[in-house]
Amino acid sequence: RPPNLTFKLVLLGDGRVGKTSLVLRYVNNVFSEKQEATVQASYLKKRLVIEGVPVTLSIWDTAGQEKFHALGPIYYRDADAALLVYDITDSDTFLRVKKWVEELKQMAPKNIVMAIAANKSDLVRSKKLNIQEAESCAEAIGAKLFVTSAKSGAGTDDVFLYIAKRLMEK
Ligand code: GTP
Repeated sequence: RPPNLTFKLVLLGDGRVGKTSLVLRYVNNVFSEKQEATVQASYLKKRLVIEGVPVTLSIWDTAGQEKFHALGPIYYRDADAALLVYDITDSDTFLRVKKWVEELKQMAPKNIVMAIAANKSDLVRSKKLNIQEAESCAEAIGAKLFVTSAKSGAGTDDVFLYIAKRLMEK
């Protein structure tokens, strides 16, 4: 193996579902209630060590607003992994995840690693979590679903670590 592996990860999902917030929680361990909408995309790097091997994640956080949709391919075209994010309190945002899955199946690199984040879990009582459909969708694409909260940090490290480990196995 080369001494430092770098993988490109792209976050996709509807506007305001919490993509930027998940990345900022993961990389800088911060959260803002007033996180502003991303324009086009932003980039952050995270270094981690997995089973003794240094790994760098090049994280591309894309803008979710519909007007930026057409930029998607620029970011996923050569991506190693995609994290698809929706807001667990807003089922419309899950429809957008399904659309991204279809688009990635057609257009993205064939062996792209995928995961789905059901974000804002802090807003839902755990008994009311309704994630069956999202779980079967994840299963159908060989991905795993993570229930996350960028606000509390729940599940956030887990989803990025899962992606990094899957990338190491590729
Ligand atoms: P775009 O840049 O428009 O694509 O949005 P985004 O998906 O990057 O969402 P962003 O991270 O900007 O968050 C949108 C709003 O949701 C902000 O007000 C955040 O504070 C809030 N938010 C993000 N994640 C969570 C979460 O896990 N829980 C709660 N309660 N609020 C969250």
